[in-house]
Amino acid sequence: MASLPGGGLGRALSWLEGAPAQAAVPFRDPLPIPPQLTGARLDVPIRLADQQILPGEKTRLWTFGGSFPGPTIRRPAGRRTEVTFHHELPKSVGELTVHLHGAHSRTQFDGQPGGLTGSQPFSSYCNIPLDLPSHVSGNDLLIEPGGRKRYVYDLTEDGHPERAAFKWYHDHRLDRTALHAWHGLAGMWIVDDAVEESLPLPDGPHDLQLAIADRSFGHDNQLTDPFTNLRPPDDGIVGGKILVNGAFMPHHRVKARRYRLRILNISQFRAYDLYLAGGAQMVQIGADGGLLPRPIRRSRILIGPAERVEMVVDFAAARGGTVELRSHGRRPGRNPYGSHTYDGPLMQFRVDSARVPDRSKVPARLRPLPKWTRHVSRRPDHTWSITVGGLFQTTWLINGRSFDPAYCDTSPRLGSVVTWELHNKTAVAHVMHLHHTSWYLLARDGHPPPPWEDCLKDTFFLYPGERILVAGRLTDYTGKFVVHCHMLDHEDHGLMSQFRVVA
Ligand code: C2O
Ligand code: CU
Repeated sequence: MASLPGGGLGRALSWLEGAPAQAAVPFRDPLPIPPQLTGARLDVPIRLADQQILPGEKTRLWTFGGSFPGPTIRRPAGRRTEVTFHHELPKSVGELTVHLHGAHSRTQFDGQPGGLTGSQPFSSYCNIPLDLPSHVSGNDLLIEPGGRKRYVYDLTEDGHPERAAFKWYHDHRLDRTALHAWHGLAGMWIVDDAVEESLPLPDGPHDLQLAIADRSFGHDNQLTDPFTNLRPPDDGIVGGKILVNGAFMPHHRVKARRYRLRILNISQFRAYDLYLAGGAQMVQIGADGGLLPRPIRRSRILIGPAERVEMVVDFAAARGGTVELRSHGRRPGRNPYGSHTYDGPLMQFRVDSARVPDRSKVPARLRPLPKWTRHVSRRPDHTWSITVGGLFQTTWLINGRSFDPAYCDTSPRLGSVVTWELHNKTAVAHVMHLHHTSWYLLARDGHPPPPWEDCLKDTFFLYPGERILVAGRLTDYTGKFVVHCHMLDHEDHGLMSQFRVVA
């Protein structure tokens, strides 16, 4: 097992799964649509919930609002939104912190990981000084069991409503993000704006959000506890069962017309190389940071943890039939372990046989990139280098250090456009995520990115040995923001650092 990181672990986990009382049947359950919240002031309890995922016993989860995924929050750009999260999980869960992934948030509402606390007195991977004052560790920003915290999101950037995009929220606690997310602490978030509304894209019931997760279940249909003491570089958790919106390989009935599919990978570690089987085509229209400049026909779309892709699919081509959303196990080549893609079906669309009018379209031009992306320096101001190291036990390191909430590796100026290099000096792929704003990918190993990455994103594959250049415009908010791998075990095991925006 140790010689086969990722893949070996996945097999070991499926072996650990007990035989469930009744076998789960692919495509039997309908696709759940999480409840939608649209108000300016929201209260979201974080609580236990029992959800029917497999036949037989329900699965106990830790949820936002009582479901996994949690409620989808949908808000107009530029409208202040306040969400109060109430921590109603058992005390033993410890502190929580909520990050709105892809958002431009104030540091105190960005889901700081925090430091050591009474319920988490030591870290076995990160190097956390004892007795940090709580405003330095970020402990003052955590949500205590029984407590609550109000997060304020302006949904503006640099004085304007921010760009419409498909985002998500999840826990971000030091050392325990993977554990908390595994148990269900994730939900989707959509920002709409006038530019998108002016386009003839499919909307309403023809705009579907799909959150993909893999999980493993033991007897009684309860989640397994894969959080053993695996050390880098062998720490990556994959599950044997694929869930879409919290259901095991569901189906969804669609009309024979165009749909907008917003797809989000909320898996801990697993990537998917998506394709459609059954005659429909994928036209990618968006990525992490919203719409692309123009649509791109794709035959496969690789999506790593936390990445989003938006596509328009015309199911008219499969009228009366079925279309499966599937993932290819990746071929050899630039695919070292660490980025194993799932091999098999994720869900099924059952296409109506009736002809229906469809006035939606995919315009040839969607949304231009912001102007600042056109004059960006290609000389990096800072490099983030990833290695694996440690004296007695290995951890992931960025510029020689594992995560320390008191330490910032660079201090860019408020209002500046920075160009940063991310360099992966390890033998496994990582999926690097930067907070504060949407980022623009300038180059992979000196070459221009493919068209589907020539856009605003916040999460980037970084292959072994590779260097990428990203640029970001840091407006509005000073303070600390993190940079980390979104393979959640890597993040918890040291692969996170910080920058501090200064006035
Ligand atoms: Cu989705 Cu810093 O995380
Ligand atoms: Cu990683």
